[in-house]
Amino acid sequence: MAATIPTYDNCPDILRMMERGRAFLGTNTAIMCGAMTWVSHAPFVIALAKAGAFGVIASGGVNPQQVREQIQAVKAATDAPFGVNLITMDPKLMEHIDVCLDEGVAVVVLAGGLPPRDAIARIKEGGGKVMAFAPALALAKRMIRQGVDAFVIEGSEAGGHIGPVSTSVLVQEILPHIPEEIPVFVAGGIGDGRMMAHYVAMGAAGVQLGTRFAVAEESPAHPDFKRALTRAGSRDAVPTSQFDPALPVIPVRALVNQGTERFNALQLELLQAVKAGTKAKEEAQLEMEHFWAGSLRRAVQEGDVDGGSLMAGQSVGLVNKVEPVAEIVRDLMELGQAHWEKIGKGKVPA
Ligand SMILES: Cc1cc2nc3c(=O)[nH]c(=O)nc-3n(C[C@H](O)[C@H](O)[C@H](O)COP(=O)(O)O)c2cc1C
Repeated sequence: MAATIPTYDNCPDILRMMERGRAFLGTNTAIMCGAMTWVSHAPFVIALAKAGAFGVIASGGVNPQQVREQIQAVKAATDAPFGVNLITMDPKLMEHIDVCLDEGVAVVVLAGGLPPRDAIARIKEGGGKVMAFAPALALAKRMIRQGVDAFVIEGSEAGGHIGPVSTSVLVQEILPHIPEEIPVFVAGGIGDGRMMAHYVAMGAAGVQLGTRFAVAEESPAHPDFKRALTRAGSRDAVPTSQFDPALPVIPVRALVNQGTERFNALQLELLQAVKAGTKAKEEAQLEMEHFWAGSLRRAVQEGDVDGGSLMAGQSVGLVNKVEPVAEIVRDLMELGQAHWEKIGKGKVPA
């Protein structure tokens, strides 16, 4: 018999504060594990679903048919809801959207830049729910008008592609100004349940983590990738730099290694080509994205921790062991509840 999904009844305050997020996601907790390219495939998303968290299938590096197979594999294993993360600059975005709608995916998460208006419209017309990343308040308001149903606000502490502003500032800038009916999930730098409790107490509908889940037992990442992350400190997870505005670069936060140097060399080479007029800016940007997808695959799947990309957020310094997904979710919930009881119920002197 299939094990029942935990309900975390021993965490009543956290559950209450997560109510809107849980209703939106359809899960027992409002804890999302953000999509991670090469990591967030079916078995991992199934483990998250069984723990009462919301998993999101990553579409980075895979085609629409492969995404369909991932979705079908999750649906075959659980009735629990889950999402699919689509990259807005993917030339096959619309095909990916049609696959998600066809398969009845609960939430489509549009990542990697502002979502095109027609992509939002297509998902809504097809009966899907759209979640997008809000990098600033004005852009969030515009996306609400275009039909976005929920947001992730992700600070620069996060692993992978990042924006320039920290989570703590985004939370103050955006969270209080988004209407109640639009749930907002806070991401970037969340390592434990205490931080999670603060964000939901401030009005977040839920949270999204990546780095802590990347090293979970059920994560398909190579043991050497997990070892590198569990050993690293917060200061080791550093964003890449942009050398020149002529070639805008979305920073990527990862552990510094030879892969970082290779990226810098590639950026320099592409910058020279753009300046010389032998390569279009957009083409150069796409080449950089292919570099990241390829080098992340080498690190995650082959364990190339020297030359591959070890994408990780600053919370990597708080992640010291490989644990089952269910244990991570339980720990987040129970530590959050314990912390709330300590600070939220008047036990701390004013
Ligand atoms: C290895 C790795 C790969 C990631 N890949 C993606 C991705 O493909 N799409 C995406 O939207 N976010 C991606 N992210 C970001 C996560 O989904 C999540 O938002 C982020 O890790 C949260 O911050 P944290 O790392 O501080 O927990 C990735 C993060 C990591 C660590």
